[in-house]
Amino acid sequence: MTYSPLETPRPLAGRGPESARLGRLLADARTGQSAVLVLRGEPGIGKTALLGYVAERAAGFKVVRATGAESELELPFASLHQLCGPMLGGLGRLPPPQRDALGTAFGLSSGAQPDRFLIGLAVLSLLADAAEERPLLCLVDDAQWLDRSSAQVLAFVARRLQAESVVLAHDSPATTVAPITLTELDARRDDLKEEYYEFVAPTEYVPHHLPEISELVHAAEKAGDGGVTGFVEAASTLIHEKFSYVKGATHVHSSIEDALKAGAGVCQDFAHLLLSVVRTRGFPGRYVSGYIVPKSTGDPEANLEEVIGGQASHAWVEVWLPGTGWYPLDPTLGAPVGLRHIRVGYGRDYGDVAPVRGVYKGHAGQRLSVDVRVRPALDSDGREQLQKTASVPTELPVEERSQQPEQQQQ
Ligand SMILES: Nc1ncnc2c1ncn2[C@@H]1O[C@H](COP(=O)(O)OP(=O)(O)O)[C@@H](O)[C@H]1O
Ligand SMILES: [Mg+2]
Repeated sequence: MTYSPLETPRPLAGRGPESARLGRLLADARTGQSAVLVLRGEPGIGKTALLGYVAERAAGFKVVRATGAESELELPFASLHQLCGPMLGGLGRLPPPQRDALGTAFGLSSGAQPDRFLIGLAVLSLLADAAEERPLLCLVDDAQWLDRSSAQVLAFVARRLQAESVVLAHDSPATTVAPITLTELDARRDDLKEEYYEFVAPTEYVPHHLPEISELVHAAEKAGDGGVTGFVEAASTLIHEKFSYVKGATHVHSSIEDALKAGAGVCQDFAHLLLSVVRTRGFPGRYVSGYIVPKSTGDPEANLEEVIGGQASHAWVEVWLPGTGWYPLDPTLGAPVGLRHIRVGYGRDYGDVAPVRGVYKGHAGQRLSVDVRVRPALDSDGREQLQKTASVPTELPVEERSQQPEQQQQ
């Protein structure tokens, strides 16, 4: 499919940085530098619109497209055929083994089941051949519905693109959750315990076998729908609703017993409570330590630099769901984990990933505070601005005494 590019495409609302980044990829492709970009996001977030926008801006490019289709999921090479269709004129110029492999895959010639490696090479050659004439833009949309053979070949090609003028933009879905039931989880309990022992076993902060935790497990089972996702979501919501967020209710060394007694805590406690509930039920769970960006700065239109103090330090949980993988939950906010959550590390509990650790040397009576600046990795022109965030080393005062600073995750 070819496009007749518009002179000045209408800009997409609120997509300045993304559009600029895509524009730079196109500019690089014009000078012979290829790139692969994956657009990832929930349905309806605007991925297809961005692909359309980049196609409109690709003046002088040959544009080829493929859209994964659920109905063609089982048809080998269906999407690859769609992508390569406009370039098949170049098939005759490929080395014969590659030409035969691709020709057979597309049903243009008969022969034995073609070699995947040869097909990958053939597609690379075909793209390079097409890009000799003018730069080439390959857009792949709804990649979640690419047939397996096409997806494999495209991944192979994407890893090997070097000097060709090709941009492969590739739309991929948000995590899909496998519909596994709690009964199915139980059948795998021993295997999970063996494989993820450190994330199932009790720890100093997250002891097991507390009666209050067993009550929460039962309540989450009742509130859920019998599925693993329903259970962990219900557990996170229950903890969010049952416990109050109170700064100072607990301290840095508190285990969940203190939070259970107080009925309150900070994010460190909320995370430990959820870990105890999911581990008691047999799920591996890990403590995630990081930062949370305040809502106002999450707006792509806002000027995104903001200084946020110790409050920014945040903790949440990832639970291992069979068939899905690590699934994030934030019982403190009671909201989905998203772009505002900046993940720094994970461990069994707070003790593994405290945000600050070390020996601070300074005057007696001083207090440690931590400033965190969060800003997007791209400026409004799509340029990376990570180097600007490098911090200047601070002069430490003359040693008078030392203390072990530890910061509770609030
Ligand atoms: N930046 C934007 N501003 C306004 N509307 C948008 C924007 N991006 C997408 N849309 C609209 O939102 C809807 C969903 O976008 P779409 O690109 O189809 O999402 P996705 O491909 O991620 O599922 C469409 O109607 C589209 O026109
Ligand atoms: Mg779409």
